[in-house]
Amino acid sequence: MATAGAPARTVAPKIVAKGAQKRFPTRRGWVTAVESVDLEVAEGEFVCVVGPSGCGKSTFLRILAGLDHATAGEARIVPGSDPKQPLNAVVFQEYAIFPWKTVLANVAFGPQMRGVTRAEREAIARAWIAKVGLERFEDYYPAQLSGGMKQRVSIARALAHDPQVLLMDEPLGALDAQTRAVLQEELLRLWEETRKTVVYVTHSIDEAVLLGDRVVVMTAHPGRVKTEFRIDLPRPRDLTTTSTPAYAALTGAVWAALRDEVRAAMAQDAEEVRS
Ligand SMILES: Nc1ncnc2c1ncn2[C@@H]1O[C@H](COP(=O)(O)OP(=O)(O)OP(=O)(O)O)[C@@H](O)[C@H]1O
Ligand SMILES: [Mg+2]
Repeated sequence: MATAGAPARTVAPKIVAKGAQKRFPTRRGWVTAVESVDLEVAEGEFVCVVGPSGCGKSTFLRILAGLDHATAGEARIVPGSDPKQPLNAVVFQEYAIFPWKTVLANVAFGPQMRGVTRAEREAIARAWIAKVGLERFEDYYPAQLSGGMKQRVSIARALAHDPQVLLMDEPLGALDAQTRAVLQEELLRLWEETRKTVVYVTHSIDEAVLLGDRVVVMTAHPGRVKTEFRIDLPRPRDLTTTSTPAYAALTGAVWAALRDEVRAAMAQDAEEVRS
């Protein structure tokens, strides 16, 4: 966060959100999903977003992804110099992979859309499939895979797309704790290799502090940025990072900031039930 007297930023941000607002028309009138989000993300930065359920995290991510428009302000990815490189790829909590395509065809889909030749796109896909440990499964269909494997396919597919920015909305949220831990380490490894700009929404404070360079805490509905924490834990990180005192101190600080917002969100839910 900019502080008084801080030197001017020299690197242009890769993501800019200024007063980003989203309202939806409903039968009961307008609902404000996102009140006003201000956020800048630098090129190559891994930013995690936490906030109570319903505060507008997914809505904000959808605006960044170009799947929806802000009703006021802006939230956008600043295009890089290569006009052919896709701006973003999104990984959702639900496995958004094509059930009728094999693992190989799913991962090759992005390059295929860009007109990459068959031989070349299969080579790209195979390389990413290997990086997520699914070499033996490239001819499998999604229905033949476990949840963790499906999410590996989603991640490989997003990376094979070679986006300028990777947007992730609770990508590990549907997985059991052990699979989730394994995939967290895989994500850390993949990020070390690619150094992509990432915006990563999660409900898990532990996960946010383990993965991110910065953790942004949103307020209860309708969302704004409440505060943020720089995560200066050394990299490369792995699960042993979670047993350090510095990690414990950071997760404690993020929870302290989030706790009141979660309580406010629960009170709002109770109010809605009564009305
Ligand atoms: N298409 C829509 N029409 C009306 N209201 C919507 C729509 N999409 C989202 N909302 C409302 O906007 C608010 C924010 O929703 P959003 O899904 O962005 O929250 P979230 O932070 O991602 O929640 P969660 O953590 O549960 O995924 C919620 O109150 C939701 O009901
Ligand atoms: Mg959501």
